[in-house]
Amino acid sequence: MSYCKILGFDKEPFSTSPDPEFFYLTKEHEAALTNVLIELRVKRGLSIILGDVGTGKTTLSRKLIQELRQRSDFTFHIILDPSFDNESLFVNSLVKNFDINVSNFSQPTILDLRETLERFLFQKGVTENRTVALIIDEAQKLSESSLEVLRVLLNYETNEFKLLQLVLLGQLELYSKIINIPNFFDRISFKYTLNPLDFEETKEMIEFRVRQAGYKAHMHLFLDDAIKGIYEYSRGYPRQVIMLCHKALRNVILKNKFVVDAGLIRELIDEEIRSGWHRKDLLLQKSSY
Ligand SMILES: Nc1ncnc2c1ncn2[C@@H]1O[C@H](COP(=O)(O)OP(=O)(O)OP(=O)(O)O)[C@@H](O)[C@H]1O
Ligand SMILES: [Mg+2]
Repeated sequence: MSYCKILGFDKEPFSTSPDPEFFYLTKEHEAALTNVLIELRVKRGLSIILGDVGTGKTTLSRKLIQELRQRSDFTFHIILDPSFDNESLFVNSLVKNFDINVSNFSQPTILDLRETLERFLFQKGVTENRTVALIIDEAQKLSESSLEVLRVLLNYETNEFKLLQLVLLGQLELYSKIINIPNFFDRISFKYTLNPLDFEETKEMIEFRVRQAGYKAHMHLFLDDAIKGIYEYSRGYPRQVIMLCHKALRNVILKNKFVVDAGLIRELIDEEIRSGWHRKDLLLQKSSY
């Protein structure tokens, strides 16, 4: 029997999949989401969300998609991994992703495909009065030629608005890529960096996920001192927090306990450090723990 059932959960509370149901809207995540939604509504073109590894970008994109699904005036498309070696592969993938019929060409050239994309955006945005959004996760993997394709798409506009709304979510390397392309960088209408959580938010996120998973017992499963230990080790990086919480709950069962206390967390962290399977940058925190 899984620890979830034994501890009285309906669902797994600390799964690492980017499930929007388990996404706690911290101040930063909420600010990012709200502002992107505003940018999409006013059709300003380009929004960029940066964040270090495991800060919640993919989960935020799922939450955004969940919001857009409820809007009948939106057409949205998602690219989960934009690693394309050349312009032609990227443009072809966009045409496919937008579900554009190109059967009228026997062998379309890049120029044909670009014009087809432009016509598609005009048809959706002006004739049908819909907002077309393209959300790209892992955007740090975009090559220079793909960024150039996107820049050209962002140039398609009416007198009042951009025809394509682009949301890029990527790790911090994306910044160094685009800062070197001034005519791309200049077009960003909203930029935001997701930082790790502070202590309060780490605690709230843990408690939120425990509640969301259906925990009904009237007691705190994670004691405050344990959360302090989790926070200090993880420095508030959500994925690290979640992985440690998952391990802690497994060990609660193994050790016949009812709650996660500071001692249990300290044991897990020491074990992680001894095994050598830890992130070196997190180990730097050990002295403060
Ligand atoms: N605000 C939050 N509330 C609850 N869980 C969160 C939150 N932010 C992130 N997480 C969780 O942390 C884990 C990592 O998040 P996610 O995969 O979205 O990070 P990422 O920034 O996309 O990472 P990467 O840079 O490796 O792609 C996921 O399990 C996610 O559900
Ligand atoms: Mg991600």
